[in-house]
Amino acid sequence: MNDTDTQTWSAKSSAELYGIEEWGGGYFGINNDGNVEVRAPGNGGRTAVALTDIIDGLQQRGLEMPVLLRIENLVDSRISILNDSFAEAIKVTGYKGQYRGAFPIKVNQQSHIVEEIARFGERYNHGLEAGSKAELMIAMSVLQNRESLIVCNGYKDAEFIDLGLQARKLGFKCIFVLETMAEVRLVIERSRELKVDPIIGVRLKLSTKVEGHWAEDSGDRSLFGLTTNQLVDIIDELRDAELLHCLELLHFHLGSQIPNIRSIRAGVLEACRYYIEMVSEGAPLKYMDLGGGLAIDYDGTSSVSGHSRNYSVQEYCVDVVEAIAQQLDAHDLPHPTIVTESGRATVAHTSVLLFNILDVGHFEPGPIPSQLPDNPHEQLSNLWHTLKMIEVNRLQENYNDVIYYRDQVRDCFFRGEINLRDRALAENLCLAGLQQIVALLPEMKRIPPELEALPEQLADIYYGNFSVFQSLPDSWAINQVFPVMPIHRLNEKPTRKATIADLTCDCDGKLDSFAGPEGETNTLSLHPVKDGEEYHLGVFLVGAYQETLGDLHNLFGDTNVASVRINNDGSLDFVHELHGDSIADVLSYVEYDPQSMFRQFRMAAEQAVRDGRISVSERQSMLAAYSESLRGYTYFER
Ligand SMILES: Cc1ncc(COP(=O)(O)O)c(C=O)c1O
Repeated sequence: MNDTDTQTWSAKSSAELYGIEEWGGGYFGINNDGNVEVRAPGNGGRTAVALTDIIDGLQQRGLEMPVLLRIENLVDSRISILNDSFAEAIKVTGYKGQYRGAFPIKVNQQSHIVEEIARFGERYNHGLEAGSKAELMIAMSVLQNRESLIVCNGYKDAEFIDLGLQARKLGFKCIFVLETMAEVRLVIERSRELKVDPIIGVRLKLSTKVEGHWAEDSGDRSLFGLTTNQLVDIIDELRDAELLHCLELLHFHLGSQIPNIRSIRAGVLEACRYYIEMVSEGAPLKYMDLGGGLAIDYDGTSSVSGHSRNYSVQEYCVDVVEAIAQQLDAHDLPHPTIVTESGRATVAHTSVLLFNILDVGHFEPGPIPSQLPDNPHEQLSNLWHTLKMIEVNRLQENYNDVIYYRDQVRDCFFRGEINLRDRALAENLCLAGLQQIVALLPEMKRIPPELEALPEQLADIYYGNFSVFQSLPDSWAINQVFPVMPIHRLNEKPTRKATIADLTCDCDGKLDSFAGPEGETNTLSLHPVKDGEEYHLGVFLVGAYQETLGDLHNLFGDTNVASVRINNDGSLDFVHELHGDSIADVLSYVEYDPQSMFRQFRMAAEQAVRDGRISVSERQSMLAAYSESLRGYTYFER
């Protein structure tokens, strides 16, 4: 570490290090006190509140770490950006159709989120996408506006279809997107039975392929959608049933988090060809539904990396509108209403996972004695002398020697030729040697590949009070990178390199891939934890997919959740507070009965009293502690 660096370190240096201005989308930044602040759009400007102030407010209300913080204003802002950007693109290109958003409920089904989208989205006729009966029932209960769409994707049984047809009778614009031939027959049968015309869409399997995480699922191998042959069969089937006039929507979904705008444009152009052909077959199409795919810049690189995208929301809208207009104008067809089912682009920003650090594991040597013990073992002595030879122009050789002699010492230990204390000394010497090598690496002109991973192998492990499996499942399941950083002390240079381990005793329960301005790294810069002071980290952009996909690994349950709204004057409303799962809750999810567990425990305690192993008053306090634990939080409590 350079001392001058440490003295001149500022909030700006931290902003550059963590790339917060790049991935924060204007919603997150660092204030002059070195705290991360949320910048909520308000009256023409932005009102900022520090996350540390929000944490203070949460703690006063009894909500301890970890907490999933939702900032309601940010969902509103994302809905506005999406709708305003489409409106602007429609205006500047002279497009004659409209735009309708439909938020896919599966991306965040939590009632506070969906209700807020329905409430705020009403002014834009923003609707919902439902992929199951349960989601359709949510849509029917929260949407007030009959101009908003309810787009029904997924496989539909008769009950699903009946629900949707009833929604039609109630005046909802509820659209069945057909995925299979079986569905078309069921829709025909049920709509005849209930005597209501359905609005029908077809989901097409396009041949356009996209980059990014879902690349393998796009194109011909895509899991969903109708082939061209099936589309022709459906058109014939609907015509025969005299329901072709109900076929109003063409749907496609190229994949989520599409990094490259060129693939989106290519997909739209291909879909337009189908649109034109379907119209000439007699389908009175009105809607072109692009599904999801509008990507988030998780790593702040504005690139075609799978965690980013090379376009803005505004560019996305203009490209889509322009592509459709160009294609359809050439055939003199009216412009359809453009529908998108943007999920992550709507809700990712709204949630931040906040957690505290419980402990730090260092890979640093203890004190090194000034000399070796008398009559040292030959291999221990070799290791000792190797350390004296470390210099910058032979680091690879030094590394080889340190590891070789350490392994020799380990072999001798296995054979009983070296005792416990000499083995401990050897391990300490090895760590000291490796740390010396790491310190000299920056002076090398070219770092040999074998040494590149050494800093990471010696990085600290910060133990965080959270579960990757519960709160960041995509980080484990699909190596999704989320921005992670300390939320305070940002005027201070972070001098440690670390990976982060969670509370589960699982080797996968860790964060060791981080986004930064220089690309992905395996360690994160953090501050040394101070005795008696909490150190808080935030994982940002976690509002999409994470909450529902999370699981109960090691029985860590839902975290505490708080929704806040930032007012124009900078004051905060704590809109919702939700205590996370108690231990009794998670036990009951896996079919235990907490009451009978308590009874068993009481019987064991009673027996111990009878056997004279504990007193009656000890029994009482044990029972009270057990009962309190059942009601307690599943995470670490100070
Ligand atoms: C049919 C459909 N629509 C919309 C979405 C939402 O996608 P995104 O979150 O990329 O906007 C998905 C997700 O994969 C989907 O399958």
